[in-house]
Amino acid sequence: MAVQTDTRAAAGAVETMNAGAEAACRENEMTDLADINPDPLDEEARRILRLNDKGGYTVPTAGLYPYQWNWDSAFAALGFATFDTDRAWQELETLFGGQWDNGMVPHILFHVMDDGYFPGADVWGTANAVGRGGQELPSSGISQPPVAASLAWKVYKADPGVGEARLRALYPKLVAFHRWIMAARAESGAVCITHPWEAGRDNAPDWDEAMAGIDPVGVASYTRRDTGHVDAKMRPTQADYDRYIWLVQFGRDRDWDDAKIAADSPFRVADPTMTFTCLRSLRDLGLAAELLGEDRAEIDGWIATLEEGAETLWNPETKAYEGRNLRTGNFAGSVSNASALCWWGGVSRPEAVETLDGVLERTRYALPSYDPAGPQYDHLRYWRGPVWAIMNYMAAQGMAEAGLDAQADRIRTDTARLIADRGFAEYFSPVDGTPAGGGTFTWTAAVWLAWASPSAKGA
Ligand code: DGY
Repeated sequence: MAVQTDTRAAAGAVETMNAGAEAACRENEMTDLADINPDPLDEEARRILRLNDKGGYTVPTAGLYPYQWNWDSAFAALGFATFDTDRAWQELETLFGGQWDNGMVPHILFHVMDDGYFPGADVWGTANAVGRGGQELPSSGISQPPVAASLAWKVYKADPGVGEARLRALYPKLVAFHRWIMAARAESGAVCITHPWEAGRDNAPDWDEAMAGIDPVGVASYTRRDTGHVDAKMRPTQADYDRYIWLVQFGRDRDWDDAKIAADSPFRVADPTMTFTCLRSLRDLGLAAELLGEDRAEIDGWIATLEEGAETLWNPETKAYEGRNLRTGNFAGSVSNASALCWWGGVSRPEAVETLDGVLERTRYALPSYDPAGPQYDHLRYWRGPVWAIMNYMAAQGMAEAGLDAQADRIRTDTARLIADRGFAEYFSPVDGTPAGGGTFTWTAAVWLAWASPSAKGA
């Protein structure tokens, strides 16, 4: 297999941070949250959301991610809801405009083709996919963590007067999405993934065993585009990419038929991100059902299934909820920020708090995506160490709801400091706060406005 090297490989970390953002951030180089002046940062966050708004949908950041991504978009809605309710609902409506007939909401919607991204719509080959029905918008063939129902509920709560009619219209689509997840991804009781990209945590150590089981033979020659935008040391490795593309070809060869993929794929991993975000979304969908006078019995059944299934992810050795390879039954041995989403999902054990406290003790900036004491830790490499604002948002809110106020405060404070000092980066080093990945990042701006900013009204 001939893998070509992208000659545009970037040397720097964040490519798109503008002078205004740098000034706003320099102004706030301090360590005390009380000293942060939120005004210029709030303004910059709103500017980023407008900058990345392509007319009805928002890209995560220009260049690196030029399309509409599923969970990024739901977070964009959360951010817009702080200053433009109509635009927030529009974001969610555009996302669900790409829903397949079987209920699946794809992880990427390819609205306007852009050859700066790989793999594009032609590689996914979903035109004749099983389950797609009459959907015409080109898309990928997998989904992403289902945060949309939870964030739609937040958008509703930000402005119930406007929100009720919009939520009512979206509700059947949200239910259909979760019905698809429960039918196509929850055979173990927890929610599993068919591709690392489905978890959103592309190169997390949770899938190392399953990825090692793939021999990426037959992968067509390709050129990575991500390393043309971002320093390669902050991205997945070439071995990861070969397997990502092998899995795309595997799904495409089966017309994205969920049953065939479930039966044949070497990669099937039950995932705490999917499980806990789904559980939380179902709880929020249940609240929406009550508000709208809908029957919530089916939703309650799904919640019961996932509450039981989540326990299959509990590894007594590491005392954490982890990815579990459904082909071998093995735990990943990986304490991650997805483990810390258990409280967001409304699930916990006392030992999970001890594990969390240990991670916080050995980390300068919380919450690392992987335990710094773990053997795979790499403080700049994507989901193998770096801090992600969206994960902090969900984890800390869940902790606060569970009475873990000190841990929640610590995570919020660290998030605010990182953004104030280092800008609206995709992710940050937990060691020294180095901004990493893409810059002017939509979901970092959204989380700032909704939660991390001292001016945030509460999310
Ligand atoms: C990427 O291209 O890096 C994405 O994470 C895939 O969703």
